[in-house]
Amino acid sequence: MDEGMPLERIDPTHLRCRHRRWLDFGGCDYLRLAHSPAIERALLAAVKRHGWNVAASRLTTGNHPIYARVERKLARFFGAEAALLLPTGYVAPLAVAQALAGRFTHALVDEEAHVCLQDAALFLGCPVWPFRHRDPHSLARLVRRAGPQARVIVLTDGLFGWNGAVAPLGEYRRVLPPTAWMLVDDAHAVGVLGRRGRGSLEHAGLSRTRVVQTFTLSKAFGLYGGVVLCSRQIRRWIVTRANCFGGGTPLPPPFAAALETALRELKRVLSARRRVLEETVRLRDVLRRAGWEVLETPAPVIALFPRTAREGRRLRESLEQAGIHPTWTQYPGRPAGGYLRLVVAPSHTPADLDRLRSALLRVRPSPSRASHREGTQKAGR
Ligand SMILES: Cc1ncc(COP(=O)(O)O)c(C=O)c1O
Repeated sequence: MDEGMPLERIDPTHLRCRHRRWLDFGGCDYLRLAHSPAIERALLAAVKRHGWNVAASRLTTGNHPIYARVERKLARFFGAEAALLLPTGYVAPLAVAQALAGRFTHALVDEEAHVCLQDAALFLGCPVWPFRHRDPHSLARLVRRAGPQARVIVLTDGLFGWNGAVAPLGEYRRVLPPTAWMLVDDAHAVGVLGRRGRGSLEHAGLSRTRVVQTFTLSKAFGLYGGVVLCSRQIRRWIVTRANCFGGGTPLPPPFAAALETALRELKRVLSARRRVLEETVRLRDVLRRAGWEVLETPAPVIALFPRTAREGRRLRESLEQAGIHPTWTQYPGRPAGGYLRLVVAPSHTPADLDRLRSALLRVRPSPSRASHREGTQKAGR
């Protein structure tokens, strides 16, 4: 697998690639805050005020006062007991696992969980058992096999960003023993799911008891960095036991400072999600009527899986002719040959969506479409 084509986002809806300006339906900047002028101003002002690097671990001289202040605000926004900032979303579950190492007898991991969760499971110091993707029955079978004395932790994405499917967390809770823990990577769900944008737990109506939620600030927040939401005790364990936390330089203070503005901006733009979802649902309906299989999900993600290489090529060509960047996605563990992943965002105008619709409809899918893995048919819950 190669690195992606170099491209440059030039405004919330366009990017530059191969010397051309394209309409953009790619990426994970779900609320298009990565170009927010308010966040940009906050970031630049914070660079002037705090510099950009504390040049030491938070365990030594790098614990800038901005971190605790922002963590309190994050905990309040998400209704969690405590929050902790990490340098990236990838590192966040690793730090949790390092802090919880030795506490569990079995780590049960969704077979399609993000690679950072697969890596995190290795730090838990117990056998790692994969369960079938988004399948509570498969999870229940593993729980039975682990036995009544087992202390289990489940690791899963809350929302699978590659196709927009939601993990059935409520169903997991019902099949798990009351002592079981869950580590939920909500990278794609915060800001996207839940009435207040709190992610998959809010979407499922699940309490935070024995749940640790991690996420990146690089997606809906349009910023950078990682966050763990957990109990005060687990926060303390991460600080004192996790090498991923203590053994490195924390998030640059300007990103922490700008997060206060990003939280305000996120709240402000949450109401735009309704229109975006309505547009997404309409587009999915049109595509289904044209013969495509498209997963229904509460996320503004549309994944199209061409059945043949020729069909994929025609999709890409049609988008290119319409001036739309063909967001062809090839990612470890995803369908070989790639697929088309589209994200509808608040900045897309009705004209942008018309252009996308016409470009997609110019390609007729082959009539005998095999349903593509779980990705295209099961409800997104
Ligand atoms: C599900 C998921 N978890 C974690 C990450 C990593 O977050 P970050 O880019 O902040 O390291 C990503 C991708 O960026 C992701 O898609």
